[in-house]
Amino acid sequence: MTTTLITGANKGLGFETARRLVAEGHTVYLGSRDADRGRRAAEQLGARMVLIDVTDDASVDAAAKTIAADGGLDVLVNNAGIESRTPDGGIIGAGQLTADIMRQTFETNVFGLVRVTHAFLPLLLRSERPTIVNVSSGLASLARVTDPGEPAYAYPGVAYPASKAAVNMVTAQYAKAFPTMRINAVEPGFTATDLNGRTGTQTVEQGAEIIVRMAQVGPEGPTGGYFDAEGPLPW
Ligand SMILES: NC(=O)c1ccc[n+]([C@@H]2O[C@H](COP(=O)([O-])OP(=O)(O)OC[C@H]3O[C@@H](n4cnc5c(N)ncnc54)[C@H](OP(=O)(O)O)[C@@H]3O)[C@@H](O)[C@H]2O)c1
Repeated sequence: MTTTLITGANKGLGFETARRLVAEGHTVYLGSRDADRGRRAAEQLGARMVLIDVTDDASVDAAAKTIAADGGLDVLVNNAGIESRTPDGGIIGAGQLTADIMRQTFETNVFGLVRVTHAFLPLLLRSERPTIVNVSSGLASLARVTDPGEPAYAYPGVAYPASKAAVNMVTAQYAKAFPTMRINAVEPGFTATDLNGRTGTQTVEQGAEIIVRMAQVGPEGPTGGYFDAEGPLPW
């Protein structure tokens, strides 16, 4: 039996990933920072709800204690993420960027991911098939963002892609440090969720595909990579 935690799984890509992994037979801990939203989502899927705010040490430590007491963890999906926007939903470009916006974005997308990973490492290291999936973004790719021929070139935001580039670096370095684990970064693709005011062009079913695949990667599978549903991406 595989036990899996997905952060930020009360909606969007995390929820769809939870739905798919429950169907694959995983025991899924559906992470939510809000108890009611989490409980409703978990009941809908037959998952277990665990309260987890990735920006809060006490919350993350309590979640790790709960899951340890229940028997441990095999797969961690670091999915919780934010993209700070202007009050009218606009992307915050370089001219409007402040240190506070940068800090807020990194607090969830990078420090949160590290906080959760650090708290769950002892459990994962006891697993027979320890796996981490870090939900990154295509906008993390320096190669793409700097290539005028790529759609990502036109995206003017700074904090979000910088945070996801940091997620990619964190992924590469953790993968080298823990060679017995499978640790990969994934790009779901531009998906209609609350994150982007539902402007994404893919469905959550399409977006969750690579997350689900990398959550199920076997011991012979890749580690330290950056993938979308089509294959490896340029860093
Ligand atoms: N949608 C896309 O096009 C796209 C593309 C590439 C990558 N991604 C990445 O995919 C991941 C999921 O995003 P999504 O598109 O599914 O967005 P979403 O529908 O807005 O879901 C984000 C989830 O993260 C949770 N979250 C935010 N801050 C949190 C915190 N401090 N602690 C715990 N949970 C927190 C949210 O909880 P609340 O409901 O409580 O806010 C929500 O469950 C993110 O990492 C995002 O960057 C998305």
